[in-house]
Amino acid sequence: MNWERTRSFFPVTKDLVYLNHAGVAPISTRVDEALRRFSAEALQRGAFDYEAFFDTEIERVRGRAATLIGAVPAEIAFAKNTTEGLGIVAAGLDWRRGDRVVTCDLEYPSNVYPWWWLRDRGVETVMLRTQHGRLSLARVEEALRDPAVRMLALSSVEFASGFRHDLPALGALCREHGVLFCVDAIQSLGCLPIDVEASGIDFLAADGHKWLLSVEGCGIFYCARRVQDRVTPRVVGWRSVTENTDYDRCHLDLQPSAGRFEEGSPNAPGIFALGAAIDLALELGVGAIAERVLALGARLIAGLEQRGAIVESPCGPGERSGIVSFRWQDEEPRDTAARLRAARIHVVARRGGVRASPHYYNSEAEIDALVGAL
Ligand SMILES: Cc1ncc(COP(=O)(O)O)c(C=O)c1O
Repeated sequence: MNWERTRSFFPVTKDLVYLNHAGVAPISTRVDEALRRFSAEALQRGAFDYEAFFDTEIERVRGRAATLIGAVPAEIAFAKNTTEGLGIVAAGLDWRRGDRVVTCDLEYPSNVYPWWWLRDRGVETVMLRTQHGRLSLARVEEALRDPAVRMLALSSVEFASGFRHDLPALGALCREHGVLFCVDAIQSLGCLPIDVEASGIDFLAADGHKWLLSVEGCGIFYCARRVQDRVTPRVVGWRSVTENTDYDRCHLDLQPSAGRFEEGSPNAPGIFALGAAIDLALELGVGAIAERVLALGARLIAGLEQRGAIVESPCGPGERSGIVSFRWQDEEPRDTAARLRAARIHVVARRGGVRASPHYYNSEAEIDALVGAL
């Protein structure tokens, strides 16, 4: 793969060394073109051809999203963000008093608050303690032995340490113990391959504005067919039901698909953007993207260690992701990030470390520039 060629899709490279794809990423020219396509149609023809133009693209993108994660289109709903997807599960699952949700202390708040919010319904959240930025399978297994545990809720990749969970192994544990598996995939979708079937994932949520290189406010929520009837949508609207363009007949027959979780008009521009972003990821190949991103990460880690920086991300076999967290001498991570920003290198401070998160179009020279600028 000629990665250098992919830089032309990202005009951001002309001005900045952008190493914050774990935050809000820049978009590609492909996504820009898709937004313009949406805009030109809406500007010149409004909804004159809604079915042929908008509906067709929305359903095509649903199919592409399904391909990206190894699902079928009937298992995909568009959601406004990761949080909304996780919230659909938290609010709608058939909880019983005394149920427990297992998560861990590395999680981003999006994957903590929806479960804490269930306390009033008698659901307890178990926050597993982690060490050195990683969660061991043994600790999860021990927790899942508790028969009160109904769900394991984890991110595919932890937002600060960058620890990559072993999803197939976790999914196997969940199946063994009869526990539902809910994954916040925003820190890996578009960068590391994922297969919901092979990993036994029941629910997955991810917005498009990080590793997928799309815009904020439009992501996917996957709900496996086998569990769809166990989640009652808490918000129901005209689009949740079958034959929803027959406005003369009101009824509550929910769509026999994840479409039941889309209650009203879709975020069409967001979906156009997301479609172009997924197309690009699939065209390049997520496996190839992962190899590239992990190689850039390895170069960064080697460079940092050579300069005497402390790399805080777990680096064992299978543990790395697109995120490299480090500390520079005794400097506050916020100050290090500010210094790098002044050199037009975009990284951020997160949970006691400087977080760099390069994507495939970043160059080796940009990685070296970060190390040099320290
Ligand atoms: C692991 C993780 N989950 C969720 C989010 C936020 O997701 P959203 O804004 O799409 O709800 C972030 C953002 O940084 C994140 O890192």
